[in-house]
Amino acid sequence: MPSTVLISSASLLALFFFLHSAADAETGSSNVFSMQSYGAHRDGHHDDTKALADAWAAACSSVKPAVVLIPKGKTYLTKQTTLSGPCKSSIVFMVKGNLVASPERSHWSKETIRHWILFSGVTGLTVTGGGTIDGNGKIWWQNSCKTNSKMPCTEAPTALTFYSCKNLKVENLKVVNSQQIQISVEDCTDVKMSRLSITAPETSPNTDGIHITRSKNVQVTDSTIKTGDDCMSIEDGTENLHVKNMVCGPGHGISIGSLGDHNSEAHVTNVTVDNVRMYGTTNGARIKTWQGGKGHAKNIVFQNMVMDNVWNPIIIDQNYCDSSTPCKQQKSAVEVSDVLFKNIKGTSASEEAIMLHCSSSVPCHGITLENIKLTVKGGSNDAKSTCENAEWQKSGTVTPQPCDRWIDGHSVADLSPDLAQLVPHRLKMSRTLADGLANNAWTKDITDGLTVQVLPHVHAKVNMNASSLTNGDDSLRGRSLESKKVMFDVRKHGAYGDGQHDDTKALEKAWAAACSSSQPSIVLIPKGKRYLTKHITLSGPCKSSITLMIEGTLVAPPRRSDWNKEIIRHWIMFNDVSGLTVAGGGAIDGNGKIWWQNSCKTNSKLPCTEAPTALTFYSCSNLKMENLKLVNSQQIHMSVEDCRDVRISGLTITAPGTSPNTDGIHITRSKNVQVTGCTIKTGDDCMSIEDGTENLHVKNMVCGPGHGISIGSLGDHNSEAHVNNVTIDTVRLYGTTNGARIKTWQGGRGYAKNIVFQNMIMENVWNPIIIDQNYCDSATPCKKQTSAVQISNVVFKNIRGTSASKEAIKLDCSRNVPCQGIALKDVKLTVKGGGGDARSTCRNAKWKKSGTVIPQPCAFSN
Ligand SMILES: *[C@@H]1O[C@H](CO)[C@@H](O)[C@H](O)[C@H]1NC(C)=O
Ligand SMILES: *[C@@H]1O[C@H](CO)[C@@H](O)[C@H](O)[C@H]1NC(C)=O
Ligand SMILES: *[C@@H]1O[C@H](CO)[C@@H](O)[C@H](O)[C@H]1NC(C)=O
Repeated sequence: MPSTVLISSASLLALFFFLHSAADAETGSSNVFSMQSYGAHRDGHHDDTKALADAWAAACSSVKPAVVLIPKGKTYLTKQTTLSGPCKSSIVFMVKGNLVASPERSHWSKETIRHWILFSGVTGLTVTGGGTIDGNGKIWWQNSCKTNSKMPCTEAPTALTFYSCKNLKVENLKVVNSQQIQISVEDCTDVKMSRLSITAPETSPNTDGIHITRSKNVQVTDSTIKTGDDCMSIEDGTENLHVKNMVCGPGHGISIGSLGDHNSEAHVTNVTVDNVRMYGTTNGARIKTWQGGKGHAKNIVFQNMVMDNVWNPIIIDQNYCDSSTPCKQQKSAVEVSDVLFKNIKGTSASEEAIMLHCSSSVPCHGITLENIKLTVKGGSNDAKSTCENAEWQKSGTVTPQPCDRWIDGHSVADLSPDLAQLVPHRLKMSRTLADGLANNAWTKDITDGLTVQVLPHVHAKVNMNASSLTNGDDSLRGRSLESKKVMFDVRKHGAYGDGQHDDTKALEKAWAAACSSSQPSIVLIPKGKRYLTKHITLSGPCKSSITLMIEGTLVAPPRRSDWNKEIIRHWIMFNDVSGLTVAGGGAIDGNGKIWWQNSCKTNSKLPCTEAPTALTFYSCSNLKMENLKLVNSQQIHMSVEDCRDVRISGLTITAPGTSPNTDGIHITRSKNVQVTGCTIKTGDDCMSIEDGTENLHVKNMVCGPGHGISIGSLGDHNSEAHVNNVTIDTVRLYGTTNGARIKTWQGGRGYAKNIVFQNMIMENVWNPIIIDQNYCDSATPCKKQTSAVQISNVVFKNIRGTSASKEAIKLDCSRNVPCQGIALKDVKLTVKGGGGDARSTCRNAKWKKSGTVIPQPCAFSN
């Protein structure tokens, strides 16, 4: 039939043209510069670097648009290659076969180590062809210090770098197993990337998919990225970036940042991330900045995202710190503003589905959450959100309900009862209470007189302008005070507040006056000044409740000679006070440096001597300690001993990771204690929970650096110890020695029981889960003993993250008094940077597991 014939000849014609042009390309005629024509071996073993460089050079000097061809069906091995412009015309870099990197690390010198294939200064470049670019990265991953912490940290090549290119297209390629970053776009403008498939193992270190910096007008679409690090990292200098139709995971997700490290200035503006599916990534939509930076990240949209089992689906972190030493507190920050999270659904691997953790000095603003629905993966518990210093608004339905707005670590909701009382009488507020609070506008409307009646309480919480209180009209203040609380300002009792003169006496006098007041009273340490205080004991019982309002800084003398042998164990000691509140937003500075330098742990030639605990609460009841900064303590920052009914919240405790014995919060012989919302970065335990602790609830904490959270050590010197009913919930540990630990000495008696560690995230923690009944911290070896503190009913639940060591779970119990009732539920711990699978070891531990537990708990053995 004629029609059939017609079709056949048309097909033949098409086939002919196809074969003809293919042959043409293979032989390198016309403007096609094939590697084959430049002497490539095409066997994947011999070095084809020169063939590639020569083909490029020829193409680049062609006055007609040229094609560099990496022909199909063969593998071309190349070492470091720089393909530079400017070229005379546009170039298509057509990868049809496989370009593979040399597996020898010795083929890279110190000078070339940062790149494998580098395109530099090319305008009008298209990289395409459907072939594969294979970084052969295995040898680099194995030698990474992130995989094996014993190795030195060295650099590794980025597979493809586009540097200073304009009018760039990268499309239809497979990029696999890069040595480090897979594709980096630097100092480029007008870039379109699409239909890329980027793949490396989940455990490969630093293999970011697409990295973009100092580049403008960039589109990334229709790509799939599965790697061991960020799916996309969007760094300083990115402007007008549009990301659309992407699939990410495994890997760390999409991050803007980190910005502002080393006090640098960073600018990211106009970024849209649209229609992305994330599977099992660490982060979903993330913005991260270091303290101390400058600049901004603004006009950012994350929308139409589906999260499947993502650890942090929505996260802004302005206190990002990825360093082996603690990052110091700094005031400046990269400002994060005008960020929209819209139409984001799916499941969170952690309970904390939304985290807006912003800087207290440069809070985030203009954050909008619109139509969010995130639930905990497979979870019985509801997802949550947490915020600090974030001004947000929501529209549509947002699940989890965004957290209360926070000012200085305290939620507005906390304040409303007081403020409700305050507002009608005292504040001229044009906006709603919450709005006013969120942007601090209302503080301007406050007159001096206001403060006194209600403010003492509010004051501590919102960190108001203290000078408007303390510089106010005294007569006015006096009168208002009569009705409610009486204030005792240390300056009225002779304090200098210059950080030089000794203000110990002034504080003693103010305390004595307050303590004998029959009305509730306040001892005020005013804002903006430093009050030098030596060892002091503030004793009760007092006639009424008492608040120590620390708005300024209490600072310890730097000389050790100010302590004698009798008092050396304490700096500020509260003794036998009931109804005590210590608050105010100020700082307590132990000036510990001289003590650390003289510690036998720092210098083993020095004798071991004692050093003061900065704050000791001894025999107090109904104690509140909130919203304060504790820094650089001589030794333990805060110790709670023989107390009852204690609420500790909103503390920031900081000392260098190298400072000896600077435990954050130490609790012993105390009952009914709550600790919430604290950030603790020190040189020793984040929290140490000792003998006699009963009914302790710890929640929403961040720890690290330091030694982590420990129950114990219990039972030393054959002592009897009892710890009962302790819950540690929602804690993030960064780079700590331990995560969830119970430790007891041989030879002790008593018990540690009914203990729950749950909802913990470990990041690079040496011993994420550990019970150690053979603890021995002594210069001589501990002798074997049969008795032991009995450990029972311990639950480790929903604990995820990374272990710095292979041994992620360690249950090392006593042979004579084995651990009982240990339950592991939904645990997922992997080795940081993927140095093989995590392991668990056990001795004499009876456990049961439920849900998924990774690493698989070890077999029961004796
Ligand atoms: C933001 O970037 C997009 C491209 O992603 C661009 O089309 C738009 O014009 C930019 N907006 C502004 C205000 O520069
Ligand atoms: C506090 O208020 C006083 C008087 O209203 C003002 O002079 C001062 O600058 C303010 N201080 C701060 C830290 O805002
Ligand atoms: C355990 O401690 C919590 C406070 O952390 C308390 O609410 C609870 O009643 C205690 N349980 C028992 C059985 O004492």
